[in-house]
Amino acid sequence: MNKVKVGVAGLGRQGYGMHGTGLVKLNDEFQIVAACDLIEERRKRYQELTGCRVYESFEKLLADDEVELIIIATYSKDHCDHIIRALGAGKNVYGEKPFCLNYEEACRIRDAAKTASGKLFIGQNRRFEGDFIKLREIMDSGVLGEIYEIQHSVFHYNRRDDWQTLQDMGGGQLYNWGPHLIDHALQLMDAPVVSMTSCLRQIAAVGDAEDHVDIGLTGANGRSIRLEIGGGVAMQFPKYIVYGTKGTAIYQDEHFTLKYLDPQKPLEPRVAIRESVMDTFGTEEDLPFIQETIHAPMGDLMEIMHCVYRSLRQGEAFPVSIDEAVEVMRIITGAKTGVLPQKQ
Ligand SMILES: NC(=O)c1ccc[n+]([C@@H]2O[C@H](COP(=O)([O-])OP(=O)(O)OC[C@H]3O[C@@H](n4cnc5c(N)ncnc54)[C@H](O)[C@@H]3O)[C@@H](O)[C@H]2O)c1
Repeated sequence: MNKVKVGVAGLGRQGYGMHGTGLVKLNDEFQIVAACDLIEERRKRYQELTGCRVYESFEKLLADDEVELIIIATYSKDHCDHIIRALGAGKNVYGEKPFCLNYEEACRIRDAAKTASGKLFIGQNRRFEGDFIKLREIMDSGVLGEIYEIQHSVFHYNRRDDWQTLQDMGGGQLYNWGPHLIDHALQLMDAPVVSMTSCLRQIAAVGDAEDHVDIGLTGANGRSIRLEIGGGVAMQFPKYIVYGTKGTAIYQDEHFTLKYLDPQKPLEPRVAIRESVMDTFGTEEDLPFIQETIHAPMGDLMEIMHCVYRSLRQGEAFPVSIDEAVEVMRIITGAKTGVLPQKQ
């Protein structure tokens, strides 16, 4: 196979994890030829894992002619600069989320990608979560009727104290989990977002960035989606709660539980009774509900790298478009500033 020659920038949790121990397993498709990090110990650990050349600066990685795909897994605050420079150097680029910090940077990256010789891939790897994929199938099947509200959340209680809690480093849960949940929401919305609300709080993490995010989105189709990222929530709640006109679904512990009206048993038509009814809330009836449990495990988040390979070697369309990633950053900017920017 014609392997893609990779250079990885930033060899921390994500650079060493997904783009180190994860990527070496995909050695039919990728060969890691170079990497860089500011910290010597991380360069050494990565070199031991991959046997690749290691540099102490991003500039040296950019200048490595053998590298055809650069993976950007540095601090979030530097992603915009690193992506634009890597595209300018003629490389294909995989940008970790958040691929930048605001809508203005996102538009600049989109414009740079239009004229670049290399391709840009935005790392929305949670598109490949098994529960997200299964939820779309459930919604498309129609058993829940028209979906009018979705709640999507990630909760933990963590007195976090790393750079992800510092605003000037690009920290905070809006940049950390936000791109994943907002990307999911935009896919599940199935219509353009027309209005939003947001509330950001700092609860358990230290630093000065938010660790509790509460966003409400409304689509042109009337659907509302509520996203919550809680870094200071001590109990677990269902990750998804889905309300449809014919039924409801929740996702928890790797399973969807659905309760919906049996589509094979049409209901008798009803009209509202104006006169007072005696001691009931209307004419009593037994509704033909079906309850169902569907197993939906995590799935393989490395699938995104197979998509990168097929895009570079077979010309296949990458499943995350740049416009979709830019829209995620428009919502993030709206959540931060309280004003959803006009589309550019
Ligand atoms: N897609 C996902 O699910 C996912 C998961 C985790 C992290 N991430 C993203 O990956 C990025 C990195 O996060 P992390 O948790 O790995 O952080 P980290 O602190 O563990 O690693 C960052 C590394 O980048 C290095 N670095 C910083 N600036 C550099 C530069 N100019 N040149 C070379 N090396 C540099 C640091 O020394 C550090 O080793 C973040 O943007 C984060 O949001 C994505």
